[in-house]
Formats: sequence, structure tokens, C-alpha cells
Amino acid sequence: MNQNFLKSLVLAFGPSSKEESVKKVIKRELNKVKAEIGDDKFGNLVIHIKGDGPKLMLAAHMDQIGVMITDIDKNGFLRLGEVGGIRKSFLLGQKLLFENGVEGFVYYEEKKSPWELKDAKMEVLFADIGAKDRAAAKKLVEIGTQGIYMPYFHTNGLRVLAPALDDRIGCFILAELIKGINPKKLKYDFYGVFTVQEEVGVKGAKVSSYEITPDFGIAIDVTDAGDTPEAIPVSLSLGKGPAIKVMDRGMIASKSVKDKLIESAEKAKIPYQLEVITAGTTDAYAMQITKSGVETGALSIPTRYIHTPGEVVDLGDVVNAIKILKKFVEK
Ligand code: CO
Ligand code: ZN
Repeated sequence: MNQNFLKSLVLAFGPSSKEESVKKVIKRELNKVKAEIGDDKFGNLVIHIKGDGPKLMLAAHMDQIGVMITDIDKNGFLRLGEVGGIRKSFLLGQKLLFENGVEGFVYYEEKKSPWELKDAKMEVLFADIGAKDRAAAKKLVEIGTQGIYMPYFHTNGLRVLAPALDDRIGCFILAELIKGINPKKLKYDFYGVFTVQEEVGVKGAKVSSYEITPDFGIAIDVTDAGDTPEAIPVSLSLGKGPAIKVMDRGMIASKSVKDKLIESAEKAKIPYQLEVITAGTTDAYAMQITKSGVETGALSIPTRYIHTPGEVVDLGDVVNAIKILKKFVEK
């Protein structure tokens, strides 16, 4: 388990449309891989390993949720807008990192009650970057500057706690899979795509699957675990294996791909779980409805507290996901 690579991925700054640092980490890691490596115009990183057989596209998104500065008031306080599905009740009290290395802290208008979390609106929150007035703030940031939850990486060897595991964990799995591919054993013409702007409408996957027109597609992403106290019931738990998607809010997985993933897991003697969730979707949604349709499924890592600053995954599930995909792509 290449923990340093995972750590670099998780610490990289990469809100939607600002994925360059993440891409750099991935390119550095894949520099010895024999493949065509290139960026498309939209910013996706495409790794093509030629093989005989149908086209397979695997996608993992590089971007993470974040905020964008919408206004700077005369006293230097920043108002924020959401980029992707940030959970507002978790923003309050957080440290933020902006794209130029500026740090800030999120506080609230004290005349309003912050503890009615369901009512926590962006309008009552603001960030303080230690600027004494608007002019001072404008030397550090601008309207449109993006920010993320302050990155950190913690592991006890079994599990990882960090923001941005959605979907750096998927990027990690895809990169590790690519590093281990023996082109001679490949059953597909293989495209590994590290996509951009998933969190703002699966946009990178849309353009890249249109360009590639795969025969089969698989997204690698996180999904909600239901194994915390009084959680909304979902059947998934951390550490019981990767989840093979049956359905989410955006997609019903194609039977062919779902069955092949199950078969790959069983052949490799790896535990797996079946995923049905009613919220959220992935790049697979975009791939499936490309052109006249693409047979598409998804492999998910059960994750706690998605889109908060404290996402948690089990490293056993991560290792097992790589093994299932390896079985899937090899003859
Ligand atoms: Co997400
Ligand atoms: Zn995701």
C-alpha cells in the first residue's frame, strides 16, 4: 500500500475546475507506465493502454467540493458560495485553504442562531482571513477565488480520515490499477480517465466519454456507508468489501457490467457489497447516457461523512477494489 502517494493525493488542492495540482501528483506517479498519457481540452487526464478488445473506460474524479468567494465587505470579511454539494452545517467553524495558500476561518453572524444546523445558510456564514479591510483582503484573494476544507491526512494503518477522499481514493485506486496492468494480459482497449468537475455536474466524464465512446464504462467513487450510530439505513459498512453499484439517484447500473464486477470479485475471492442509494451519483451517470448508450456500472468505496471535512474509508476496501478491477480487465 503506497501510503505516500495516497497522502499526496489527499493533500493536493483541487476544487472543481482547479484540478492541476492533483493531476501533477498523478502524472508523477504514472511516469514509468507505458501508455499514451494526455490531457483533453476540458482538463481530463486520459491514460490509454492499447489492447485488443472492446473499449473500456474507467473514471475517477480529481475534483473536490469547495467554496468560491462571492463578496468581500469593507471590513475584509469574505462571503462564500458553494462549489459542489458542500454541507453548509459543516462549514461553520472550519478552517479553509484558498487557491493561493491563504487560510481562513468560517464564523457566523452572531445575531442568528448557528445551532439550528438545518437552517445554516451560506448567507449567515463568512470567512475571516485576517485582513483588516477590503483593500487588504483584495491583496490576498479576489471575487471568484476558490477554497477547500483545510487538507490533512490521518491513518492508523486500517482506516483513513481526511477531507477529499471523495474522490482522491478513486484516483488512487485507478492509478494503482494502471501501474499494475500488463498490456499483454489486457482484455480491453483500456482508457483510464481522471476527470474534472464531477462535483458540479459530472462534466469531465461527459466530454471524455463522448470523445472516447467506450463500449463499457466503470466509475470508481465513494458511496455512503450506513454503519454509524442512528444512521439513515443503507446496507453498506466499512471494511466489508467494495460496493458494486446497483442504483443511485442518477443511474441504474447496466446488468452486464454489474454482473461482470460481481463475477470478478467472486473469481478473485474478494468480499463485496451491493449498493443501492437514493442520493448522489457519479461519473457513471454521464458515461451511461453517452451517444447511443454505454453499458456502465460503478465500483464504490463505502465512506462515512461524505462531503464533510472528516471522510473515513477502510484501506482493506481500497486494496480489494484494486484487485476486483484487475480481475475485471485481465484475460
Ligand atoms: Co462528491
Ligand atoms: Zn465523488
